[in-house]
Amino acid sequence: MKRSSRMATRVSLAFGGAVSLVLVVVAGCKSQHEYVIPTASRQIFSQRCSVCHGMEGKGDGPAAAALAVKPRNYSDERWQDSVDDLRIRTIIVNGGPSVGLSPLMVANPDLKDKPDVVEGLVGLVRGFRGQ
Ligand code: HEC
Repeated sequence: MKRSSRMATRVSLAFGGAVSLVLVVVAGCKSQHEYVIPTASRQIFSQRCSVCHGMEGKGDGPAAAALAVKPRNYSDERWQDSVDDLRIRTIIVNGGPSVGLSPLMVANPDLKDKPDVVEGLVGLVRGFRGQ
């Protein structure tokens, strides 16, 4: 009796582990992922990105009107679903041409060694979803 209940505990632990693993994987694919956003990321967003993408991330910053290719509107849910975080990190550091987009999306080579700042920028971009 004792033995079978220990067995049952072990089985339910294993099952619980599998369920939480699945939950982590599912959550990782959705935008529910929690991003840590350092102050430096917020500063860079308002000093650099917002000039083209706008403070609200709608792609309507002061420089946008003059650009032949319009900056991405981050609030677009279909776009949000179509890109993964790796692509966003890549375009931020290496610029548009690195993912086959316009060079008007400028590179930020100084962020290459600052993955936490880049991750924060990804979090800010994701945060505009549906706004
Ligand atoms: C000089 C204007 C300009 C600045 C500054 C700028 N961007 Fe962009 N960005 C663009 C343009 C234009 C596009 C659209 C490129 C295209 O569709 O070919 C774009 C596209 C993007 C995309 C969409 C990529 C995709 O796969 O669709 C992301 C994400 C992005 N920018 C993030 C940023 C971030 C973060 C910053 C600040 C670190 C930034 N951009 C600064 C002009 C700019």
